[in-house]
Amino acid sequence: MSARKRIGVLTGGGDAPGLNAVLRAVVRTAGDSAENVEIIGVLDGFAGLLEGRFRHLGAPDVRELIRMGGTVLGTTNRDNPFACRSEHGPVDRSTDCLENARKAGLEALIVIGGDGTLRIASELGKLGLDVVGVPKTIDNDLASTDYTFGFWTAIGVATEALDRLRDTAESHHRVMVLEVMGRTAGWIALHAGVAGAADVILIPEIPYDPESVARTVVRCQGRGRASSLIVVAEGATSKGGEMSVHAVDPTTGVVRLGGAGQRVVRELEALTRCDVRATVLGHLQRGGSPVAFDRILATQFGEAAARLAIAGRCGRMVRLADGRIEDVDLDEAVREIKLVDPASPLVRTARSLGIAFGDE
Ligand code: F6P
Repeated sequence: MSARKRIGVLTGGGDAPGLNAVLRAVVRTAGDSAENVEIIGVLDGFAGLLEGRFRHLGAPDVRELIRMGGTVLGTTNRDNPFACRSEHGPVDRSTDCLENARKAGLEALIVIGGDGTLRIASELGKLGLDVVGVPKTIDNDLASTDYTFGFWTAIGVATEALDRLRDTAESHHRVMVLEVMGRTAGWIALHAGVAGAADVILIPEIPYDPESVARTVVRCQGRGRASSLIVVAEGATSKGGEMSVHAVDPTTGVVRLGGAGQRVVRELEALTRCDVRATVLGHLQRGGSPVAFDRILATQFGEAAARLAIAGRCGRMVRLADGRIEDVDLDEAVREIKLVDPASPLVRTARSLGIAFGDE
């Protein structure tokens, strides 16, 4: 039998439904390989790689995983080996990652993450670590893939929330504002807003005029309905305004958004006599069992990533392009993020169905 090949797998950044489905596919593909491959899970994201904490992943460890939210690799987090927390400010400990991967005998490392995590992976790749990227985020804001896994599960949660809010809005003749995630991109708000038949969708890519939003909600009341639904992306801004920032991490510089929903409430209270309430959907969008699309995409990504790693084809990221699973250069893949094009067909469809974007 050939010498055993050890492939590592790490989950980084915020969790997304489908992480465990990727792990399952990686382990099963390794088991199916003609080569003698062992999969080693890195515990707790880059923190585990920095501290050399690993766990063997075999077939029994991934049984039933396809339907489970979260990650079985401990935690997933935003730790950055190039800027580790210390008393004296950020410290670059990236070489510890390389050293620990070498000590563990990893021939390649599959990194499952969003743009931040995959940028770190790409930088580690330049230092000599053989990496394969798997795009994950509920935000769907990675430019090189049609979809990231986790996105459609988040849309389902946000759509259900809008359905529920519609009932209570009608019962009280209220304006309901739903704040959804997505960072600087409006993908979740746009898709959930169309699926949940919102009256107004506010996204970062189309800065809004509060007076225009106020006119829409007042108009909705005149149409025999006394309620309206607004879905607002956490990164949405009014024209000339700024994103609502909750906090900035002093070490990593990671910005935590929050407050856009309440801001819209204040604007509408000042401009109308409507009774307005905000709901922040928050991390409900990230937990729970992945929908079928995300399970399938995560499984296809996991298989493709494992095959690349086993074949030694590193520095690549798997992606979905026009229905096909392909791979692209990791460095190029993470150069840009993907934003909603205000002239895109879905925005046009939404407008023609009477959904307002606050710029009319
Ligand atoms: O990137 C995924 C995401 O859920 C964003 O939509 C959101 O802005 C951010 O993570 C929230 O991060 P945290 O889990 O650190 O609060």
